[in-house]
Amino acid sequence: MKALVRKKYGPYDSLHWMEVPKPEIGPKELLIKVHCNTISRTDCGLLEGKPYLLRFFSGWPRPRKKILGSDFAGEIIDIGSEVSKFRRGEKVFGFNDIGLGSQAEYLALSEDAPIEHIPGQHSYREAVSSIEGGHYALNMLRPLKLQKGSKVLVIGATGAIGSAAIQILRARGIRVDAVGPEAYRDYWQVRGVESYWDYKKQDFCKAKRKYAHVIDAVGKSHFFKCRKLLLQNGVYVSSELGPFASNVWLSWFGFFMPKGKVAFPIPKNIPASLKEMQSLMGSGKFEGLIDPTKINPRQAKSAYQYAGSGTKIGNLLLEWHQD
Ligand SMILES: NC(=O)c1ccc[n+]([C@@H]2O[C@H](COP(=O)([O-])OP(=O)(O)OC[C@H]3O[C@@H](n4cnc5c(N)ncnc54)[C@H](OP(=O)(O)O)[C@@H]3O)[C@@H](O)[C@H]2O)c1
Repeated sequence: MKALVRKKYGPYDSLHWMEVPKPEIGPKELLIKVHCNTISRTDCGLLEGKPYLLRFFSGWPRPRKKILGSDFAGEIIDIGSEVSKFRRGEKVFGFNDIGLGSQAEYLALSEDAPIEHIPGQHSYREAVSSIEGGHYALNMLRPLKLQKGSKVLVIGATGAIGSAAIQILRARGIRVDAVGPEAYRDYWQVRGVESYWDYKKQDFCKAKRKYAHVIDAVGKSHFFKCRKLLLQNGVYVSSELGPFASNVWLSWFGFFMPKGKVAFPIPKNIPASLKEMQSLMGSGKFEGLIDPTKINPRQAKSAYQYAGSGTKIGNLLLEWHQD
């Protein structure tokens, strides 16, 4: 079978589209025909082994998984003799932020791996574009007190995380303003975003209103810029460490600050995120934002470079088999 392989951590050039043996399954494993993955910022981190701390989990000094990929949506085509949770022919999706080895035509996984059924008639493309961004968005929202009707600002409406955060918040009855590129203003306004700021031309810090929380899903702003937008007890939460890892320090020592706090949650509990995204998709409250660029696995080097550039739209899909 074909797969995207690397032998060591490194830049895009260390990645190869090559023939590898099709995996064989053990008694508790599933054989999955992979329909699609995303090439996400998580995958870019796993390719380069950065931040270095990641290598403690993904393998040191060389990556444990030679095949790239942290998510997938596909069909179970075979099961081991002791599998009890899944059956042949079922459509599933899954994610692991330390790598799954899923950027390949086929994937063998334990039935206990982070996998869920794709709900209803949803396509593989829809399912796979809900996971990575959905998981990090849910982790950013977990420390926040969210009251129905309160208002939250999401910076990065067209990122995988930001686009997921907006929809999760809307599904919980939270009012949302967002910051992103002008081209997606109408897209978000018909989906319930109230005020939309073009990040290249408008300064959202000039907003007259105050927010219950500010979610910086692209990590491009910082607490001291956003603090004046926060209501009393409001929280600034970012997907990036910030200058000199300030978001980490401020989240630890924030109790000294008179107004506004910083949260920098460590992402965890992938199974809970998968279940929540499955439920949101199933109830029609989530639709992954998909980058219009079509990628053939042979072009994966340039696709990784594009994903790492910080300019993709939502989820960049890599298709192995057609739906
Ligand atoms: N904490 C974690 O565990 C974790 C996990 C995964 C990712 N991350 C980080 O989270 C960040 C977001 O990742 P992602 O995959 O969601 O994003 P992404 O897809 O890389 O976001 C790109 C989008 O953001 C837009 N954008 C760029 N600068 C902006 C700004 N100043 N304001 C608003 N929008 C802006 C870009 O618009 P244009 O089209 O105009 O370029 C582009 O559409 C990355 O920095 C990533 O490293 C953190």
